Amino acid sequence: MNNKNNYELFPTLITKYDEIFTTQQLNDIFDYCKEQPQIDYFLLIGEGKSSYDINSRILENIGKDVSSCNKINVFIQGLLDQYTADMNIKNLQVQNSWFNIQQQNSMLLQHYHPMSIVSAALYINVDASSSKIYFENPNNLIRHLNAYKGELNSYNKFNNEFFWFAVKPGDIIFFPSWIKHGGYFESNNTKDRMVISLNAF
Ligand SMILES: [Fe+2]
Repeated sequence: MNNKNNYELFPTLITKYDEIFTTQQLNDIFDYCKEQPQIDYFLLIGEGKSSYDINSRILENIGKDVSSCNKINVFIQGLLDQYTADMNIKNLQVQNSWFNIQQQNSMLLQHYHPMSIVSAALYINVDASSSKIYFENPNNLIRHLNAYKGELNSYNKFNNEFFWFAVKPGDIIFFPSWIKHGGYFESNNTKDRMVISLNAF
């Protein structure tokens, strides 16, 4: 008998580039953003600040003002174009970008990005004690399966409630804006954990 077929239906594309920016670039971005205006942000629990709502063009500004990052916004737009090509959807434009800075014992709540199609997170200052990024399985019904944890041998892509990535400085992750993500109540223990986020539509 050789007529068995498995169909892995409805997958979600997450694209992660590892450590694609230099230490010099990351240091320069860090120093630049630290000096930009910051306000409280409702998604951050504990000590944390954001440029969200007050500077929605941080990538363009870095691309203009930080000499080691000349046109970094154009480079990131190119990565976005690869993501949309892989998704087989029309090209999108980066419409807004902002940074978050978290202190120790802070948390980034789970959230998604309404009014956007593709989003990305660029990790500027993270280390082993930083909270990871957790993506939630968009199929809420998977929780029904996982209510019977004794039935699972081990987690895999068919039964996971969420998937996490540990992140390193210079990583950038592209994901659909509708997918719920955040620190999943994991405490961040990096001083000045800095991430730049963007929305594209
Ligand atoms: Fe986000």
